[in-house]
Amino acid sequence: MNINSILITGGYGFIGSNFIRFLRKKLPDIKIYNLDKLTYAANIENLKDFEEDKNYIFVRGDIKDKSILEILYPKVDAIVHFAAETHVDRSIIAPGEFIMTEVYGTFNMLETMKNFKNIKLFLHISTDEIYGSIEKGSFKENSPLNPSSPYSASKTGADRLAYSYFKTFGLPVIIARPSNNYGPYQHVEKFIPLFITNALDNKELPLYGKGENVRDWLYVIDNCEALFLLLEKGKIGEAYNIGAKNEVKNIEIAKKIVNILGKDESLIKFVEDRKGHDLRYSVDWTKIKKLGWQPKKSFDEGLKETVEWYKNHRHWWEKVKRGEFSNFYKKYYKSEIQ
Ligand code: NAD
Ligand code: DAU
Repeated sequence: MNINSILITGGYGFIGSNFIRFLRKKLPDIKIYNLDKLTYAANIENLKDFEEDKNYIFVRGDIKDKSILEILYPKVDAIVHFAAETHVDRSIIAPGEFIMTEVYGTFNMLETMKNFKNIKLFLHISTDEIYGSIEKGSFKENSPLNPSSPYSASKTGADRLAYSYFKTFGLPVIIARPSNNYGPYQHVEKFIPLFITNALDNKELPLYGKGENVRDWLYVIDNCEALFLLLEKGKIGEAYNIGAKNEVKNIEIAKKIVNILGKDESLIKFVEDRKGHDLRYSVDWTKIKKLGWQPKKSFDEGLKETVEWYKNHRHWWEKVKRGEFSNFYKKYYKSEIQ
């Protein structure tokens, strides 16, 4: 697909910012619009090096706001939709914003798109969590969806809405369902960055339940490569699982982190389990493999590099832990489009 300009939603988040950097290397001349509301999860320092890039345009706005979409849509050939509320624990405490962002926000993006035939592709970023937990084997793209948290349930709504706009209205939608990402720029509320940064400060590592839960850890750049391949070669109307062959128990990861940092395993503290905690996620990603993708990074290598990144970016995560960005965003407003 020939792309001259693209709209990324949620581009100041973890995967969105990695994807924008990745995309800029692949397509140096395209115009990149980043529509981000700057919630607590955003970090404007993730793309500090883009300030001088004339073809990078940041628009502060909400995907639930049709008027901003109507200004942006005529300018772009494709959309990659990352924006979401993403932390499962927050969805258990305060689910409302998850429903509004994932379900209403995605609906608003799709409904608005009906009037813009210039947009050739809507790449919707879903998640492997929509299938729910599986004890043995792996879910295929046509497996039943069985989400268990308000986060995954609202992501399921978004995923099916995206499909319905393909099936009912013929919109050019592709759905990506990646497994757990890790790597640089991930918010410290998430498991791996939380454990690394706490261990660096000799603080306790709160391991939920017995630490037996399994996730399939995908290095964020491997995920970016998969998403880029879908932009180029994905089939309209299809969903694609993206996994990593890196299924690891949480307890093993906690031990690996303390060992890499030369800390004591006594930092690991078993705490009350997450409500409705899914035991294991596993997806079969044969379909995207057939398109020519497979992950490159081994988990041990990726984890070492990630630990090193957080060691070298203390200034970045200390600000996040202090909530400095959230306070700043309340005052800050910068948009290059009026
Ligand atoms: P993140 O929480 O790091 O970033 C989310 C970004 O979206 C933030 O910059 C935030 O400001 C923005 N945002 C939130 N609500 C918005 C709104 N209403 N309008 C505009 N912008 C808004 O998220 P992430 O971990 O990078 O995840 C990105 C996407 O990938 C999400 O859709 C998530 O469900 C999906 N996903 C994540 C993972 C993972 O392991 N992180 C795995 C699979 C799928
Ligand atoms: O599977 C993809 C999903 O992965 C994405 O769709 C979500 O946006 C993303 O947040 C992630 O969800 P998880 O719940 O799997 O990730 P999290 O980092 O919150 O937790 C990973 C595992 O670690 C999970 O089994 C819960 C456990 N955990 C987490 C935290 C924050 C702990 O034991 N202690 C903790 O403090």
